[in-house]
Amino acid sequence: MNSEESQLLSSTTRGTAMGDLFRRFWIPAFLSREVEAGGSPMRLRLLGEDLIAYRSPNGTVGLVREHCAHRGASLYFAKNEDCGLRCLYHGWKYDAEGNCLDMPNEPPASQFKEKVKQPAYPCFEKNGVVMAYLGPAEHKPALPDFEWLTVPPENVYISKRYQDCHWTQGLEGDIDSSHLGFLHGIEAMKKATEHDMMAGSANLVAQGTHPKLEVVHAENGILQGARREADDKNYYWRIGAWLMPCFTILPAFPADAALGGHAWVPVDDNKVWAFGISWHPKRALTQQELAWFHEGTPTGIHSTMIPGSFVAKRNKSNGYAEPDAPGKQPWQKITIFQDQDTAITESIGANFDRKDEFLGNTDIVIAHARRRLTEAAKKLQEGKEPPTDPKGFRKRGVSVILPRETKSWSEAVADQMDTRPETFLPGI
Ligand code: FES
Ligand SMILES: [Fe+2]
Repeated sequence: MNSEESQLLSSTTRGTAMGDLFRRFWIPAFLSREVEAGGSPMRLRLLGEDLIAYRSPNGTVGLVREHCAHRGASLYFAKNEDCGLRCLYHGWKYDAEGNCLDMPNEPPASQFKEKVKQPAYPCFEKNGVVMAYLGPAEHKPALPDFEWLTVPPENVYISKRYQDCHWTQGLEGDIDSSHLGFLHGIEAMKKATEHDMMAGSANLVAQGTHPKLEVVHAENGILQGARREADDKNYYWRIGAWLMPCFTILPAFPADAALGGHAWVPVDDNKVWAFGISWHPKRALTQQELAWFHEGTPTGIHSTMIPGSFVAKRNKSNGYAEPDAPGKQPWQKITIFQDQDTAITESIGANFDRKDEFLGNTDIVIAHARRRLTEAAKKLQEGKEPPTDPKGFRKRGVSVILPRETKSWSEAVADQMDTRPETFLPGI
């Protein structure tokens, strides 16, 4: 990737090629629990835009530009009234569509309010998350059919975590199967066999340090299969997906464990909101699972948070470790999977020029995903819309033992990956 392409991938602010691409998809914006009916408006930065999220007294959510259309006062100080926000400065009131409902400092006969529009974005709330669409109204797609949006709320847990790195670093960690045996380490993987999620397959993963990675292109993303040795007749396949623009579906965990995935939503060009999503296609999550997710398990995708914030408790300022963690070297002190992922992806920094990388065989999925993203962004500039068909998001992760002679792993698991409850099979 040359510097120019690297730069194209880097910026998602409004008006850039990648910024326009992001603004063709519904993305997670915030968690339902962040805003209270009739409560405080909330400052929120997404794709480099400063916004205000709020929940009206009647319970519906809204997402508008932070600065008032009149003269730019922050709507953080606005009054959260019935049907909208009233700017504190001169009392202009906007509904969730950005219509100006009232302009009390203008003469009563004035029609000026008909001409004023506050930038506002459509929202959709389901299963504890608010999805938003930040693009042009005429290109707004139907909502994506993610399994975590279509199963009952009690089957889903979604966390949100601030991460101090470019959104692609988070994404690329998810689609880089070869880091498992290194970053997370053989010892950690073995320990994981005693714990919740990786029991059973952890040894296979830990020993398979150079998995064979294969890519199958889907209309709106990539399916990836990571093949490791199982025994002399079979391979162990971990199969996941990247879906445009910033969604990952992780390979299934063993047994009847919940499935997992991420949405890597840019705060701006240097930082990312990591939405960690756990769900089960067929059943409610158990109290035990919810407690694990909330606390951040040794092997899971959720972290322990500083209470009342979206900042992980173990973070850059404390070496991603507990104060009394044993070990002489920094890496020895970081023992939780998600902390290891965060530490290493944040360490790359926000602006590492991709022209200075040397991508190897096991970086194939990353290379393909980057190419798909940059191509889709360039095509959009030429007027070709990206694939946003809701059905394209019906994907779930799989982990499975397949006979060595299986010709096409993607065909072998197509039914299992398709998000119909009856096709779900526990992972290996
Ligand atoms: S700046 Fe908001 S009403 Fe004047
Ligand atoms: Fe990882």
